[in-house]
Formats: sequence, structure tokens, C-alpha cells
Amino acid sequence: MFSILRPYIFSLDPEVAHDLAIKSLKANFLPKSFFSVENEEMLETSLLGKTISNPIGLAAGFDKSAEVYNSLFKFGFGFIEVGTVTPKQQLGNPKPRIFRLEKDQALINRLGFNNHGSETVSKRISNNFPDGFLGINIGPNKDTKNKVDDYYICLSRLAAYAGYITINISSPNTEGLRNFHDQEEMKKLLSGINKVIKEKKINCPIALKISPDINENEISRIVDLVSSHKIQGIVVSNTTDSNRDNLSDIKKHETGGLSGQPLKDISTNLIKKFYKETKGKIKIIGVGGVDSGKSAFEKIIAGADAIQLYTGMVYKGPGIVKEIKKELISILKKENLKNISEAVGINA
Ligand SMILES: Cc1cc2nc3c(=O)[nH]c(=O)nc-3n(C[C@H](O)[C@H](O)[C@H](O)COP(=O)(O)O)c2cc1C
Repeated sequence: MFSILRPYIFSLDPEVAHDLAIKSLKANFLPKSFFSVENEEMLETSLLGKTISNPIGLAAGFDKSAEVYNSLFKFGFGFIEVGTVTPKQQLGNPKPRIFRLEKDQALINRLGFNNHGSETVSKRISNNFPDGFLGINIGPNKDTKNKVDDYYICLSRLAAYAGYITINISSPNTEGLRNFHDQEEMKKLLSGINKVIKEKKINCPIALKISPDINENEISRIVDLVSSHKIQGIVVSNTTDSNRDNLSDIKKHETGGLSGQPLKDISTNLIKKFYKETKGKIKIIGVGGVDSGKSAFEKIIAGADAIQLYTGMVYKGPGIVKEIKKELISILKKENLKNISEAVGINA
């Protein structure tokens, strides 16, 4: 179905196509069984304290305002991350702000956290119980005077509705956001998060989403801070603002974060390095260029407990989840593994 529609979808501006997808998903009447696979129990795993049917998640940025997550669960995702949600609603950067780099199987986006805001999102989720494990990714408003406070506001307001919360410090499209990778800034942020958790008696696992553009020598320091502040997960990684030189598409010079194929190996290598430091004690969610069972497996054997994707679904359609599951199951059989969790980190 998607391959028939794809030429039409790709003739549209990428953001128009995305808005159309959100509208259509509001009326997704396909039964969940349509996307189920045989032997899925081989993919059952645990993530951030929850058992999930499979380790394939939808990455943040697709359902930014939590409008269609239950329709998306029907495609067979094991978990979904909505957001990035900011305290107040905001429009984001001027359009055009998403670019398809078809020759490179990639996207560049500079959306800038367009979303409906934390109050609307909290109401939406409280009125529409999630049919699966739902993460909420949070970040600051562009015009805020104090970014740290914005994380605390979102955490306080949204934790009650979230299976887990992701602290997003890695979007390249919000000025100064990536400064939270600096030691002192990160320490301040994570201590504050801990304080809010204690004061508000929040009982929800927290993950931190990392940039792929960090220096290798920052990894052990990040892992130390994450462990000492009881952050349970690391999402590796967001989009990159480098790696443009070898791309073929003329749109490669657009400002923004690059996702898809050119990010695949960068994020897999980073997962490996994080896994060596965390030694399996902190859950790793691997993201970047996953568009097949093979590329999902590469991230899992590098140390990811679960994976997420976004750009792969833009190029291959929602059937990609079922395809990845089928391919993963056949890889597990070939490798004589009974369950996907046995593969985590075996190549790290
Ligand atoms: C159009 C678009 C919007 C995105 N918006 C967000 C966002 O709001 N918050 C976030 O943490 N990541 C966002 N991302 C990054 C993705 O969650 C993911 O980390 C990245 O795209 C790499 O995965 P992929 O190669 O499978 O797309 C966005 C990505 C794209 C393509």
C-alpha cells in the first residue's frame, strides 16, 4: 500500500505530508492483528521497568503533541516516545523546515520544538489511556528565561501520564540546548531533576537523550553523572549537525539536524562506547538510521536494549515495524538465540 502511495506522498512538501499522516492516523481503523508476526515472544524484553512485546520504538518528533500514539501502537511498536513537549505551546521555526535528502535516505529538520504545550498534552493523555509503553520527551521553550526551570515544569506536569520521561538536551535546533552536555550544566540540571522527583514524589523512570556530536572523551563523564543521579536510560542519539561532506543530495547544506542513513554508523559506534562504560547497568535506547532488521540488530549487539526509528518510517512506511520484527526473529533463529535480550551488547 505504502509503495503505491509513496510517489504521491513524496511529491508533497515533507511537512505537508507529515501533517496529512497525522490527520489520517486520527482515523486509523486497522486492527492491531494486521501488523502482528509469528514468534513475537522471541522479541519480548524489558525496558525502564516495563515488559514490552518488542524492542522497536517510535522516536520523538513524529507525534510531537501526543495526538495519534494509540493509532501508532497498532503498527506494532513496542513503545512510543511523544514530544518534544515544552511548557507552553510554540510554533517553531519558519517554514520550510524539513527537507528530504532522497539520494541519501536522510532528512534534515530545523523544526524547533513546534508543539501544543505541556497542558494540552497532559490533558490529551489523561483522556486517552495509552495502549502501550509511552515515553514523553521534554524540553524548554525557545523564549524562556530559564531552560532548567522549563524541564522541571514539564517533568512535574507530565510524569503522572508517562511510562518514562526523556530529558532532551540534544536537539540542534534550540539555541544553547546542547550546552547541557557540559559537566557543570549537566550536574545542575540532573540535581534539579532529582530534587523535583523527590519533592513531587515522582515515580517514573528518566532517560537522557544525547547528541551524536559529542567528543569521545565526554562519554565516561556523562555516564558517571547519569549513574550518580539515578537516571535509568540513555537515548543515543539525536540528529547530527555534522557529517554532510559525503552526502549526494543538494539539500545537504540546509541548516538543521541530519537523520537517517548518514547517522546510522555514527550512532551505532556511540552506543558501543556508551555500553562499554555503562556495562549494562543503564538501559540504552539506540536511535539513528534504523530501517531494517539488520540495522536494528547492529544497534542491539552494540549494546542497545531497544531501538527507535523515525526517518526509516518516512522512507519505508509503517509496514517497516512488521518487517523489522520478522527479520529480527529470523536473525535470532540463525544465531541460535532464544530471545532478543540475549543479543544485547554481544558485539560491544
Ligand atoms: C522531522 C524530525 C523531527 C524530530 N523532532 C524531534 C524532537 O522533537 N525531539 C527529539 O528528541 N528528537 C527529534 N527528532 C530526532 C529523532 O527522534 C531521532 O533521534 C533522529 O531522527 C534519529 O533517528 P532516525 O535516523 O531513525 O530518524 C526528530 C527527527 C526528525 C526527522
